[in-house]
Amino acid sequence: MGEPRVDRIVQLTTRPAGREIAYDPAAAPTSLQVRAAQVLEGNWTGKSTVPSRSLYPHQWSWDSAFIAIGLRHVSPLRAQTELETLLAAQWADGRIPHIVFNPSVPLDAYFPSPDFWRSSTAGSAAGAPRTVQTSGIVQPPVHALAAWLVHLADPGLSRARGFLARAYPRLAAWHRYLLRRRDLGGGGLVSVVHPWEQGMDNSPCWDRPLSRVTPAPARSFRRADLDHGAPEDRPTDLDYGRYVRLAADYRDGGYADEPYREASGGGRSGDFAVEDPAFNALLIASEYALARIAHELGAAAAARQARAERLTAALVERLWEPAAGMFLCRDVRAGELIPERGVSGLVPLLLPTLPRDLAATLVRTVCGPHFGLGGATRLVPSYDLLGEAFDPHRYWRGPAWFNTNWLLERGLRLHGERGRADALRKGMLHTAGASDFAEYVDPYTAQACGATGFGWTAALTLDLLHDRPAGDRNGVTAIKGGNRG
Ligand code: SER
Repeated sequence: MGEPRVDRIVQLTTRPAGREIAYDPAAAPTSLQVRAAQVLEGNWTGKSTVPSRSLYPHQWSWDSAFIAIGLRHVSPLRAQTELETLLAAQWADGRIPHIVFNPSVPLDAYFPSPDFWRSSTAGSAAGAPRTVQTSGIVQPPVHALAAWLVHLADPGLSRARGFLARAYPRLAAWHRYLLRRRDLGGGGLVSVVHPWEQGMDNSPCWDRPLSRVTPAPARSFRRADLDHGAPEDRPTDLDYGRYVRLAADYRDGGYADEPYREASGGGRSGDFAVEDPAFNALLIASEYALARIAHELGAAAAARQARAERLTAALVERLWEPAAGMFLCRDVRAGELIPERGVSGLVPLLLPTLPRDLAATLVRTVCGPHFGLGGATRLVPSYDLLGEAFDPHRYWRGPAWFNTNWLLERGLRLHGERGRADALRKGMLHTAGASDFAEYVDPYTAQACGATGFGWTAALTLDLLHDRPAGDRNGVTAIKGGNRG
């Protein structure tokens, strides 16, 4: 069971954390493990884990999923609780909000705060919970994948607590919300209506669709992120003005979604609607995981698995760009692919049924001049090294992030690229230790950017250090033959 193991690992601390330490994880694997567990211990609030005590003092949706994936190795109970706390804030329409606010944190510690989102009033028609304050937008659906991996860490505890049985209907409702309410382009894929939903907030991929959005005046809000992060690592005020405008418009429309209708020729009238390869790939990976969860619970899994395969086909049809050798984002309002190479377009490598030639092309692209893996860079950058907007330090405009690299490490391994996966794993472990578990790093120098002691960086470090059982390393592999219940 979990709790004592967290304490034991934390007590084993042997050296102080610090950016300057020349860290050799091969020489001191236990120490890296201890330090990562300490970060998670320090960020634990009793019910969930904050991404960062300074920059992000509440619970974030996709952070929690990645954190649970690592936390399961030190406390399966905490990992289950992490996901349960998030799922308890689900709206009646099925959406899982991107932030669940901690009422004991002062309002001015983070912007936009609960009084901006006003979920329990503005979101009442969409079924926002009354007793907990949340945002009204979503984040990538990594949760079913996380729930399945958390279950695998301690199936006995999971079964004894009815973890999957309780999570399954909520996870199914979450996927239903995305597939039924967010197909704004009518092609079967999910659209995001805000860059914060996709999670890579400031990616140059959003520049074109965001340019249609009139920014909220800078004096109408006060950013809290600049109290904790260097301005050159964070989005500009102009971008923030656009984020605020989009979120306020969605809120003022009651967080209503109007999916695609043939007759009216489109979905809801918001300015920003984008089909993103990573968001959709994570939904597909989670559909495979939901099929496994259904199978474990004795429920039918075949329909879910078939859906995951159909979604993979839709992803290829709508977002694959042969000339770029990768997936691109689709601007649903403009009806065209966005000609920018973001790391998001590599994430579908995670998918087990991706056509072989596409997987091989993605591997070539990730190791080529635009992303430089194994050459110019040890970790995959968030954006095209050769792109005009590339900036090695600014939020999602070039730095390397640990969650996307973790997904690519899984993808490389899944598609038989063991050597490259091992090298990436090594690079991630080294960088995580040397950067004090930075939120993100310069892809060339590995210099820490944003916050340190970052939740998912520590969690995914623990996951990489842990030997997973052979044959289910991704948790997203298809259920074979007769198992498709
Ligand atoms: N990532 C966003 C922030 O920087 C919101 O989720 O606050």
